[in-house]
Formats: sequence, structure tokens, C-alpha cells
Amino acid sequence: MTTTDSRRDLAALFASRVPLIVVESRDEVLVVDLITSVATTSVASTSAAPGPGAAIQLPVFRWTITEGLRRLDVQLGSAQAFNSQPADVLRTIRDTTQAGVYVLLDLHPFLDDPLNVRLLKDICQGYEQVARTVVLLSHQVTLPAELDHLAAHFDIGFPDRDERRAIVEQAATEWSRSHGRLVTTDAHSVELLVENLAGLSRGDATRLARSAIVDDGALLASDLPAVTRAKHEILGRDGILSYEYETVTLADVGGMAHLKEWLDRRRPAFDGSAPGLEAPKGMLLLGVQGCGKSLAAKAAAGVFGVPLLRLDLAAVNDKYVGESERNLRETLSTAELLAPCVIWIDEIEKAVSTSQSDSGTSQRLLGTFLTWLAEKTSRVFVVATANDITALPPELIRKGRFDEIFFVDLPDEAVRAEILRIHAHARGLTFTDPELTTLTSATAGFSGAEIEQAIVSATYGAYAARSPLLAQHVLTEVGSTRPLSLVMAERIAELREWAAPRTVPAG
Ligand SMILES: Nc1ncnc2c1ncn2[C@@H]1O[C@H](COP(=O)(O)OP(=O)(O)OP(=O)(O)O)[C@@H](O)[C@H]1O
Ligand SMILES: [Mg+2]
Repeated sequence: MTTTDSRRDLAALFASRVPLIVVESRDEVLVVDLITSVATTSVASTSAAPGPGAAIQLPVFRWTITEGLRRLDVQLGSAQAFNSQPADVLRTIRDTTQAGVYVLLDLHPFLDDPLNVRLLKDICQGYEQVARTVVLLSHQVTLPAELDHLAAHFDIGFPDRDERRAIVEQAATEWSRSHGRLVTTDAHSVELLVENLAGLSRGDATRLARSAIVDDGALLASDLPAVTRAKHEILGRDGILSYEYETVTLADVGGMAHLKEWLDRRRPAFDGSAPGLEAPKGMLLLGVQGCGKSLAAKAAAGVFGVPLLRLDLAAVNDKYVGESERNLRETLSTAELLAPCVIWIDEIEKAVSTSQSDSGTSQRLLGTFLTWLAEKTSRVFVVATANDITALPPELIRKGRFDEIFFVDLPDEAVRAEILRIHAHARGLTFTDPELTTLTSATAGFSGAEIEQAIVSATYGAYAARSPLLAQHVLTEVGSTRPLSLVMAERIAELREWAAPRTVPAG
């Protein structure tokens, strides 16, 4: 919403003679200024075209518990400190014959007092005699039911692109002025930051823009992850959407050549180098346990160079019984405000499985999610993973929902060698070629997780033997591991059979 829109909306509200206006905003100064300016310049009549007679001038008062009541549109001495208590100021407003706009800042904690509620109701009901408009301005207002029907909500809106750009430029100017040199930046990074600040109040946007610059006097693309993280904290969605600090690079993932190439090809849609490119929706990863599905989800964020947010779909159900769809929609809107980002939904089947007898809640939750996914145009890339295909609702795997459904199988010989190398290297061990050959064949049927586990156990073995980590330690651990694929051979065979016509191999 632009400031012009806000002015028009507010003027319309005043003109429509609503006695109580609720504004939820953190931009206190801005809102008070806007109200003062709209109320004192012109309040357009709702009916006739604004002629000279259509303008009404309204006095504006501001109340805070620290200062009391003060008139803002004209200077009339100091504030009325005797009116600092909520009940006192409400009585004063009730008894006055002075029409006007009364902006009450942070009255919200006192709305649980029946006396205050009654006084507000009296003021509203006396509007026809004396036109007093009460504005409740707080970061959050829960209106008692008694007042609900008397009130209208006014939304100041978030700063639009131009306003956000002005905020960033202002932050840069401030920094240069106090440091005597220019901020190091480039047009592309500025535009990325301007985009990143969408959905934040002016105050928060200013704070984040300043903090991106202040550490090193530079505003570069590398500042953006920290901005998104701070933004995630501001927007926080009750633990349903959590920020994953750990992302991995493609080099940490063994195998999955096809998936890697697929992701790599979509990178330009995220890094801003091809703004015209349509954002991909996402991918679904199915497959054998421990073969790197979660790892690939983290790698997607690494490839795109964007933050990774984990969406706990099952928690939406648990936390908001009866309200889960609305909350999922709100969570998804929050995620869109954090774009560009990757949203990771691990074990999606657990939240949306149709086998649960929960009177269709998970079914509707899935519907909400799929609708959002279908209509989504924002640069939010969804990675969903699933283990249990028998619990997967068919609509989830229907063609066109996700851009691609990948099947992640047990690693073959070449991939096992790669995984062995990756995890040994991370612990300071480099295998010789013959060692690698031996270990590669010894780990036939192992998942990536089991290979990693063998190497981790080997580090304990080496430590106990007061020896550096050697291939021999790994081989010993491998020899004492019975891979899950042996126990589950039949299930894996079924899984592959099911996957063949429905999915694309990741590797
Ligand atoms: N292809 C791989 N390359 C490198 N490491 C791997 C690979 N597959 C698995 N690993 C290692 O095993 C760990 C566990 O794998 P991950 O959690 O990604 O598997 P998953 O398929 O999600 O398993 P689950 O079905 O149990 O959720 C990873 O963190 C990684 O260290
Ligand atoms: Mg996993």
C-alpha cells in the first residue's frame, strides 16, 4: 500500500463516522503523523464531490500513559498530565463537547478492565451527539467482543518498493555522513535488499537496513542471509517455520548427479541474475531411508544461495486445532515474505497422511498446501521429502504439483566411493585408491547414513587405540554393520517398483 492509498483510506474512515478505529502498527510516529495530517487537512465527504464545503477540520489529540493527553494540531501549552490514567482520559473524552480524533497509544493492556471497556462504549454510543473518533494504536490490539461491532480496522500497510528503496538510501546516507565515506555497494545488492525488506514495518525495515550496513560499511549480497534471519525472527511463526542455519553445498552430497544438474539449472531464477525467469515451485524427494533426502533439501538452499526454512507441517495441526488451515495459510504468507528462500517440509506424509482418523483435517491441510503451491508465483522453492510411500496421498504425487519427483536410491559403487571420500575427508582422512576400492565393495548395500556412521564409529575406535584415523578402522566398523537394506530388502524392492513409473531417479 502506498502512502496515498493510506491517506485515502483513512479519510474515508473519518468520513464514514466510525467511532472507534483500531490500528495495529509498530510505526507509531508515522501513523500519528498520518492521522494528524489527514484529519487537519481535508476529510473528503463520502457522498458529494469534494467542494469547498466538504472539508472538515478535526482537532487531533494524542494520549500516552507517560504524558497524558496532548493536542497535536495546534500548540496549546503542555500535555494534561492529570489525564494520564486510562480511566481518567476516557472519562474526559466521554464528557467533552469537543469533537475530534483521540489517538490512544498503547491502551491495549488496559482493555481487560471492564471500566475502560464500558467508557469506550459510552464514547462510541455518544458519537451522534459529539463526534469523537477514538483511535487505538498499538503493535497489537485484541478488542473485547463488546466493542467489536463499533470498530473499524485501519491497516497502514507495509512500505512499497519505492518507500523501501528510500529507507535503504536513507540508511546509507546516514552511515556515510557519520563515517565520512561512501557505503560500498552495487545496484544489484541494493535491489535485492529492497526486495528483502518487503512485509516489514518502516521501523523494522530501517533497523535491518542499518544493521546490514553498519558492520563493515558495505551493502552487498552477502548481507542478505543475515537480513532474512533477522526478518524471520521479527515475523516468527511460533516454531512452525524455523530457520535452518546449516545448509550444505553440492560438494557435500555424493551422487544424485541428475538432481544436482536439475537444481543448478534453476539457480538463475533465484540469484537475481535472470529476473524474468519464472520461479520453480519445488521438488518432492522419495526414497530409501538414510540416502540423503534431507541432505539434498539443504543442498537446494546452498545451490540457490538462499536461506533454508523448515516448515513443520505436523505442528500446524497440533498447535492450532480447528484453525490449522488458516494458520498454514498465514505461515505460507510469512514464508513468501521471506522470499527468496527454500522451504523444507521433511516427512510430509506424516502430516498429510490420509490414513489418520482426524475427521479430514489433514486432508484439508493438504488441500490448502497444494492450492498455495499451484498458485504460487513467489521465489519460494519447496522441497518435500517422504519415506513412507504407502502413506502418501495420491494428489501429492499427481503430475504438475511439484516440478519434479525424484527417487533417491541406495548409492551404487561409484557413489559409495564418493560418499566415503566426503565423510573421511571431513575427518582428516584421505584413502588411497586400493583402500577406497576395498571399502567401496565392503559397503555394498549401505546407505549414505550408514557409511557416515561407520566412519564416525571408526574415529572412536582410532581414539581408543591412540591412533590416527585409518582406513583399517573404517573397514572394521563396516564389517560389523548389518545394513538396513539387508533387513528390508523386500520393502526396498517394492519401493523401487512403485517409484519406477512415478518418479525420476535422482542419480
Ligand atoms: N548421498 C550422500 N552423500 C553424502 N552424505 C550422505 C548421503 N546420503 C546420506 N548421507 C549422510 O547421511 C546423513 C543422513 O542422511 P539424510 O538424513 O539426508 O537421509 P534421508 O534420506 O533424509 O534419511 P531419512 O529417510 O532417515 O530421513 C546425512 O546427513 C549425510 O551425512
Ligand atoms: Mg531425512
